[in-house]
Parts: sequence; C-alpha cells; structure tokens
Amino acid sequence: MAGPTEAQVRETLAAVNGAMSLLDGVAVKDGHIQVALAIDPTKAEQAEPVRKAAEVALRVLPGVLSATVVLTATSEPGSKPAPKQAPAAPAPKAGGQPQSPMNPEDIPGVKAVVAVASGKGGVGKSTVAANLAVSLAKSGLRVGLMDADVFGPSVPRMLGVNRKPDSDGKFLVPLEAHGVKLMSMGFMVEERTAMIWRGPMVMSAVQQMIFQVQWGDLDVLVLDLPPGTGDAQLTIAQKVKLAGAVIVSTPQDIALLDVRRGLTMFEKVSVPVFGIVENMSMYICPNCGHEAHIFGHGGAAAEAKALGCDFLGEIPLSLPIREQGDAGTPIVLSQPNSPEAEAFRALAERVIQKL
Ligand SMILES: Nc1ncnc2c1ncn2[C@@H]1O[C@H](COP(=O)(O)OP(=O)(O)OP(=O)(O)O)[C@@H](O)[C@H]1O
Ligand SMILES: [Mg+2]
Repeated sequence: MAGPTEAQVRETLAAVNGAMSLLDGVAVKDGHIQVALAIDPTKAEQAEPVRKAAEVALRVLPGVLSATVVLTATSEPGSKPAPKQAPAAPAPKAGGQPQSPMNPEDIPGVKAVVAVASGKGGVGKSTVAANLAVSLAKSGLRVGLMDADVFGPSVPRMLGVNRKPDSDGKFLVPLEAHGVKLMSMGFMVEERTAMIWRGPMVMSAVQQMIFQVQWGDLDVLVLDLPPGTGDAQLTIAQKVKLAGAVIVSTPQDIALLDVRRGLTMFEKVSVPVFGIVENMSMYICPNCGHEAHIFGHGGAAAEAKALGCDFLGEIPLSLPIREQGDAGTPIVLSQPNSPEAEAFRALAERVIQKL
C-alpha cells in the first residue's frame, strides 16, 4: 500500500491546533509516519495533548500503518538530565517513592527487559544480543529482540529477516525468526532519513516504538542498545523499565573508561548490571580447534571484579561467529555443538539466573 505522502502529513498536522509551530521533523515511509515536535522541556505537559491529537489525526489517514508523534527537547544535546533528587522534580504521587523525572515503564506483556550495551561500537554487541536471544528461546523462554540502533541496525541482517512489519493500525506486529520475535528501527526508517534526524528525535522514536509493538506475552525482551553509554542510552534506560544490563567489551577495551562509564550510567538510573561479557576473547583455530589467548587470559574477569560486577563469560573470536552471524543464522543455531555456541549458552544461563 502506498500510504500518505509527506505533504498530506503536513496538511493534516496543519489542522491540529498548535502542532505546526512545534514541528521539527517528518519522516514518512510505506505508511509509517514519524513526526517530531520540538518543545521546551519544561512545557512537556502542555505539549502532550498536541502530541496526542496529532497522532490521532495521522492514524486515520488512508493507508497509514503506524503514526508516531514524539516530543523532543530543544535544550542542547550535551545537557544533562536533571539529577534524581532535583528539588524541581515533580512531587511524587501520593504514597509513592521519590521518583526520577521520567518514570520507567513496563512494556505490557513483557516480564523482563534485558539491555545489551557497550561502551563503544563494533565490539560485537549485536552478535551477543542475537545469540543470547536465540539461546534464551532455545531454552524454552518466550523471547523478543529489539534493535534500537537506528544508525547501524544489524538485527535484521543477523537474523536473516528484512520485511516491513505489519500493523493493525495502532500496533506493529513483530516479525519472527528462529523462534524470536523481532523488531528493528531498521525495518521502519530509511537509513538516510535516520542520518538527518537529531539524536533526541531518534531516541524518542525508539522509545515510543518499543511500546508500539504487539510483543504478546514474553519472558524476556533483549534490547540491543546503540553503541555508547551517553545521554541517548540513558534516555532509553529512563523510559523503559529494565530488569538489567549486559555490558559487552573486548579484551583490549575492558580496562578502558568506556566500560566504567557504562556501569555508572546504569547505576544512575538504578538498573542492575548483570555483568560483563568479554567478546572476541580467545581465538579458536578453525582448523585444529586450538585455543589461543591472543590478548592474554583472565584480565576481563579480574577487571569485572575490580569494577564490582559479575563476569558473565567469554565468547571466542571465531570466523564462523562472524560468517554465520552476518549471513543470518546465529552460530547457536548453525553449529549448536560448537564451543562458540556453548559459550553463548553459558551466557544465556547466567542471564536466566539473574532474572
Ligand atoms: N566473537 C566474534 N568472533 C568473530 N567475529 C565477531 C565476533 N563478534 C562479533 N563479530 C563480528 O564483528 C562485527 C561487529 O559485530 P557487531 O555488529 O555484533 O558489533 P556491534 O557492537 O553491535 O557493532 P555496532 O556498534 O556497529 O552496533 C560483525 O561483522 C560480527 O560478525
Ligand atoms: Mg550493533
């Protein structure tokens, strides 16, 4: 179905009181509409009815599969969110605990959300997220995998799916592969569109999208966060209630500040860190199976201990992990009896224990 054009979207927004003056960006693709309204963060409450009204108006356009309108703050991207104990924070609800300015929400039907994070890009976060999700599913849990990485979505490639998800007009129906329910920003947003979006807009779109998916009943939703542990990731952790976080690092990076920063970020939002996974740890020779500890051995476990968190295990650096992962079948499926698959299974078991 063709879906509405950007011009139709703008025309519709023009009829919504107050929307046009806030309009910050529109993205339209195959019936999926994403709109950003830029607001002064102190006026979020007043802007909410405008946001709602815009969404309602857009959803009834012919051919619309989904319409998401997000509020983005116009404050400087580098500015820090208000500290939890800020006196200006809204008064806690009667009888409630003092709460952070944004209360993290549960995703309906989802028992636990586990974030997979890393201090920097390219350390194998998506590989770990995909293999962890499939391993959890193989152990009998109902599992979802959400790729929140707009700039480099890789979950569709790693699980060999790239179709547009269906929608019932209000909710997106996740795709399914290898027994795992999948959703990726990559299904929804043209990579080129994502590039011109500003950070805050992307993050709000991600958060809203997580809640717009009909996950059904899930035991675990694995969330592949964008690389880094800055404000963008912090915002997601503030919006979605996380059961815990798994931090992926390579042996070379584990002693660097990045990992520590990751821990601090989750601490700030009171999300327990399940532990650190060392990826691309020892090298397994594809010919003879010999293990070589190119970057030394035991450093990661010691470093995790020094940082006061658990060590969740090591994943070998191995050609089949890359080849099969990048070809759409995670190694835990393509070579279930390999030492690599065993390493991911052990990781999944530790995560289950933490849950
Ligand atoms: N243990 C491993 N052995 C061999 N190759 C690996 C391993 N882990 C990841 N890779 C490969 O390294 C590349 C980067 O991995 P991946 O995309 O999972 O990293 P990422 O941290 O998610 O990156 P980004 O920051 O871009 O999201 C991929 O080609 C992947 O197949
Ligand atoms: Mg990735």
